[in-house]
Amino acid sequence: MSKELAISPLLLEHVQSFRDELGELASAPAEAPQGLPGRFYADQDFFEHETKTVLKGGWHCAGRVDEVPNVGDYFTFNLLGEPIIIVRAPNGINALSNVCRHRGMRLAEGSGNTKRFVCPYHAWIYDTDGALLRATRMKNSGFDPKNCKLGEFHILERFGFIYICLAENAPDFDQSVSGLETLISEYEPENYHLVHTATEIWNTNWKCLVENFMEGYHLSVVHPETLHGYTPTGLSRKGPSGDGFTSYFANYPEDIESRGKGAPDLSEESRHRSTLFSVFPCQVVSVAATLLVSLSIRPLTVDTIEVKWTMSNYKSELDEDTVRQRIALWEEVNREDREKLEIMQQSFGSRFANGGPLAEADYEGTVLDFLHWIARQHASIANSD
Ligand code: FES
Ligand SMILES: [Fe+2]
Repeated sequence: MSKELAISPLLLEHVQSFRDELGELASAPAEAPQGLPGRFYADQDFFEHETKTVLKGGWHCAGRVDEVPNVGDYFTFNLLGEPIIIVRAPNGINALSNVCRHRGMRLAEGSGNTKRFVCPYHAWIYDTDGALLRATRMKNSGFDPKNCKLGEFHILERFGFIYICLAENAPDFDQSVSGLETLISEYEPENYHLVHTATEIWNTNWKCLVENFMEGYHLSVVHPETLHGYTPTGLSRKGPSGDGFTSYFANYPEDIESRGKGAPDLSEESRHRSTLFSVFPCQVVSVAATLLVSLSIRPLTVDTIEVKWTMSNYKSELDEDTVRQRIALWEEVNREDREKLEIMQQSFGSRFANGGPLAEADYEGTVLDFLHWIARQHASIANSD
């Protein structure tokens, strides 16, 4: 990963202490895995360093492809300080900078459909590919509209999701998730249709939600009414992982019926469980026969995130009533997790928040995969310092 910004010697020394500790944690014996100490979730300088490196250098899920089904459809959001427009142009989906090239005004708000983006400040007009089409009254001989195209970010579509990367040089997405397609292709993730999207602010560090979503250890304790009945902790099983992803299976008890049919090639085993996976750094997903829920985590500060979550339904198999029930269920599940994470965040400054032992692979192996990934990222950043 390339270094994004120069780092001061003092900060480097501080960051080095995190790198050293990551190296030690990542080489702990397999039978005695340890989690990250509290300072990794609460230190302001470390967060700023992560932002410039691990976060800005990673691929982030912007949403589902069918959020912008028609030419001109767009939605906007901020990611790590960058205002972004996702827009479907005639030649495909673009990730444009939502910053006017004149004096920096935001061009678009919310979501909608448009042929052109007209800046609300001095009315410069941009095409959906970012080209400046018109800048009224700009008669200076030195002005060339061709030099005023909107900034663009790397973008690609996989599994029905839109992924973007803010870095100048994006890492190879397919290489980093190599093995994930084999794991989830039987679900046909691109054939799930969007039924719900919501955005919330949570007072937690971004890594806490990745870890929380990706471990089955807490399911029966935190979600006794909502999840325990069909995905109890005791049936959690570690799934495959790769360079930039991890997964686990939340199996349903034998006496529980599968929840709908889903894709024709889906095995009985897969129909009888939810597969949870994370595309590092910031996307966590649960896919089951008929339902796909994805959370895009957007770090705002060291202890605040914006969470955009989407729910999609396999080929619209579920009726409206069932969809409504599932949305209500996930709202409650998210509320239950959020409550725990927000309390935990307040403890990370404690001198006793030293990072505890992790449970075995079926319960917290995914947390260890994530820790190893973080350690690898920081080791490669250190090599480029
Ligand atoms: S800032 Fe956009 S036209 Fe002036
Ligand atoms: Fe949970």
